[in-house]
Amino acid sequence: MEPALMGTNRSVGQETQLERDKLEKKYKPIIAVNQALNRQLVSFQANKKIPIYNWFSYKEGFSSDMVKLFIKECPKKKGVVVFDPFAGSCTTLLSAKELGYDSVGIEIMPIGNFVLTSKLTLEKIDLEYLLDGIKELRKVNFETFPTNSEYSFKHIRITEKAFSTVNERKLNGFLNYIANLKDEKLRQIFSFACFSILEKISYTRKDGQCLRWDSRAEKSKAEFDKGEVYSFDDALFSQLNQIVNDLRNMSFFGTKPRKDVKLELKTESSLEILPEIPNESFDIVISSPPYCNRYDYTRTYALELVYLGINEDRIRDLRQSLLSATVENKDKIDLLKKIYKEKGRLNDFNKAEEIFNSNSALQEVLGILKSYKESNDLNNPGIHRMVKNYFYEHAFIIMEMARVLKKGGRIYYVNDNVRYAGEVVPVDLILSEFASNCGLTVKNIYKLPMGKGNSSQQMGKHGRQEVRKCVYYWEK
Ligand SMILES: C[S@@+](CC[C@H](N)C(=O)[O-])C[C@H]1O[C@@H](n2cnc3c(N)ncnc32)[C@H](O)[C@@H]1O
Repeated sequence: MEPALMGTNRSVGQETQLERDKLEKKYKPIIAVNQALNRQLVSFQANKKIPIYNWFSYKEGFSSDMVKLFIKECPKKKGVVVFDPFAGSCTTLLSAKELGYDSVGIEIMPIGNFVLTSKLTLEKIDLEYLLDGIKELRKVNFETFPTNSEYSFKHIRITEKAFSTVNERKLNGFLNYIANLKDEKLRQIFSFACFSILEKISYTRKDGQCLRWDSRAEKSKAEFDKGEVYSFDDALFSQLNQIVNDLRNMSFFGTKPRKDVKLELKTESSLEILPEIPNESFDIVISSPPYCNRYDYTRTYALELVYLGINEDRIRDLRQSLLSATVENKDKIDLLKKIYKEKGRLNDFNKAEEIFNSNSALQEVLGILKSYKESNDLNNPGIHRMVKNYFYEHAFIIMEMARVLKKGGRIYYVNDNVRYAGEVVPVDLILSEFASNCGLTVKNIYKLPMGKGNSSQQMGKHGRQEVRKCVYYWEK
């Protein structure tokens, strides 16, 4: 057993729910359906019809309407600073800006910064100027445009053959054309339009844990039809048309945006950046971390990462730096210890470990998963380590979120419970207990009207049991 991480050792057959039941009982009075929240609002779905937010589908995102709802619920109205330590496509930051509030975000994947920069460029662009640029772009024959490998799409192993020969040729022609565009703003906007259609023009579909390959792709082994694979020009110009129409029809970023509204995105790991943020910096945290569900963002967004120039080695490093949520993640104990030691905060390091180790419900579930691992009853032996690291790192994240929140401040945290080998991991209760250990008051655990479905495989083997999808509301 690792010295820092406990996890009682039980043999299979001795499983117990006792500690999880105790926690369930403790929080039962505040677990309730909130009629204002539904699955659309809490997921990316509600963004699909909303300009700005639907220009790039970040399927793991939540909706701008949900963010605005929470910001408006906040009793403080002036000088509010909003924070999101897992900013993703920056829904929280952009929604705060729309309402005229300052915001800070942290997002480790370069996708977040690229999307944000592009949208802020679009906010300022003169529409006529953009239309002229698009007119010029339409004149280019991407298929025959001379290419230089320096500017072309540099595949990594898992993206090879993602495009048809024609689409790949056009994509590279386009990339070489925009590389020579003098106007930086136009280059950013065109590049963003192309970035947003990569999935559409490819043989791949984002599918949670990985990229699914259409049978038409040369390297595909499975029978899968993703539907239409768009031609490069059609997809690109339809994307640009949509953006132009949206810009025409709306007043960008609210009707009366405060001119000096501040928006800052830090592009490193929250585990490293959070400890540097001064105490009591923010009024509201609205965030959604990666779920403990094995989804690998670096694989799902491989096309977009490669497009942004991230090579195989950097993608591998990125995978390990993300909050642990896949079976491949190694623990970050040494890294965290180093960070806290350098800052003279070893007491806080010990405090976070204590929060992790003393959570009986968590240790109960880890003990069971460990015994399942030893008896080969987990469909991947890495699941035990993933769950352990997920909560270990979350002890630090929650301790820091509590510290950087102002008194009276609120945290809204969106997450799903999960279930492995029939064992429900009550992520909502364990993280809320962590929050309580950090001095926060757990005000509500808002359950969405219908819990997440279980896979038919899990249900057949372990019976039907609802796995909650929740928004936690904690207060300082
Ligand atoms: C559920 S998504 C958030 C989506 C976001 N709410 C939105 O609407 O776009 C979680 C995000 O956390 C990011 N992430 C994972 N580990 C991180 C870390 N250590 N530091 C900062 N961001 C991280 C992922 O890249 C992902 O974009």
